[in-house]
Amino acid sequence: TTIPPPPRNITSVKKLAETPNLSSIPPNYAYYNNPTKTTASDSDDAIPTVDLSLLSSSNPDQKSKAVHNLGKSCQEWGFFMLVNHGIPERLMMDMIEVIKEFFNLGDEEKPEFEPEKVLEPIRYGTSFNAAKDEVLCWRDFLKVFVHPHFHSPHKPQSLRNLLEEYSERIRNVVRELVKGISEGLGLEECEMEKALELGSGLQVFVANLYPPCPNPEVALGLAPHSDHGLLTLVIQNEGGGLQIQHKGEWVNVNAPPNSILVNTGDHLEIFSNGKYKSVMHRAVVNNERSRISIVMANGPSPEAVVRPASKVVQAQGCTPAYAPMKYKEYLLSQQSNKLNGKSMLEQIKIQDL
Ligand code: SIN
Ligand code: FE2
Repeated sequence: TTIPPPPRNITSVKKLAETPNLSSIPPNYAYYNNPTKTTASDSDDAIPTVDLSLLSSSNPDQKSKAVHNLGKSCQEWGFFMLVNHGIPERLMMDMIEVIKEFFNLGDEEKPEFEPEKVLEPIRYGTSFNAAKDEVLCWRDFLKVFVHPHFHSPHKPQSLRNLLEEYSERIRNVVRELVKGISEGLGLEECEMEKALELGSGLQVFVANLYPPCPNPEVALGLAPHSDHGLLTLVIQNEGGGLQIQHKGEWVNVNAPPNSILVNTGDHLEIFSNGKYKSVMHRAVVNNERSRISIVMANGPSPEAVVRPASKVVQAQGCTPAYAPMKYKEYLLSQQSNKLNGKSMLEQIKIQDL
């Protein structure tokens, strides 16, 4: 007897969206009467901007102001728009184009989607965890581990070189940001990098495709969640689509062209002992255009056991609010479950600050 093959993946959203005369979404994509899908508005407060060139300024006054602004953005928003980041616009555009080509490949040319293997270095799939999500996300994705070991799909042909260059440039940007954050937390500039073993930090590339959706008001591209790592850097082909939670309200992010969106992840919250909370965010869809976002999730070394920085805890005059955990194990657990807010972080919380 032959063992039946594992259940095949749920149809990609791209394919679904291309169904002739598709007038409504299948019910398993709809958040009817679901509080997860509440409306968002444009914020009254301006979403913070961080200028990377000022963070590495040789003028000490300018630099310390930039460090302060970075810390404040992490503390009050967990989110900022990065400008003067030094990543060539050409490279960002090429990344978007090559990812469009990737999603346009036939499904038989794409890597296997195996929901049970969430730590495979190259995965193409749909929703977040299609085997677990109760309501499916209107999203197809490609996830690739690009550091400490570099991987890349071999198609489209130009992807590998672009991805290698882009991920390295993003790591350099992240290194600068981490220095600034370390200082802002009252640590030495290199202390955070050392404690989290960022030299062998995990970097995951995620490309998202959100095809036009016939019922954008009841669907979500990505359900509300926080990211597992330290800092996630996002570029996109459209100014809108990402929403962040701020003071309990959903806020539209209307990003200026050529900026990089940065959100803080769970491991920054852990390391800062809750001073910098990871930001809840989600992606919405529209019925006219495909949106592509290119995400670089930057985390500690997979082998690092992460705990709140003791100097930060001391300065707060309290005790560690999160239990130590190996990053790899945190990641495995978060990625093996359905996408569900900050549920993973809640599990290692010792106390509320
Ligand atoms: C994400 O949350 O990882 C993606 C958000 C986006 O598409 O902007
Ligand atoms: Fe995210």
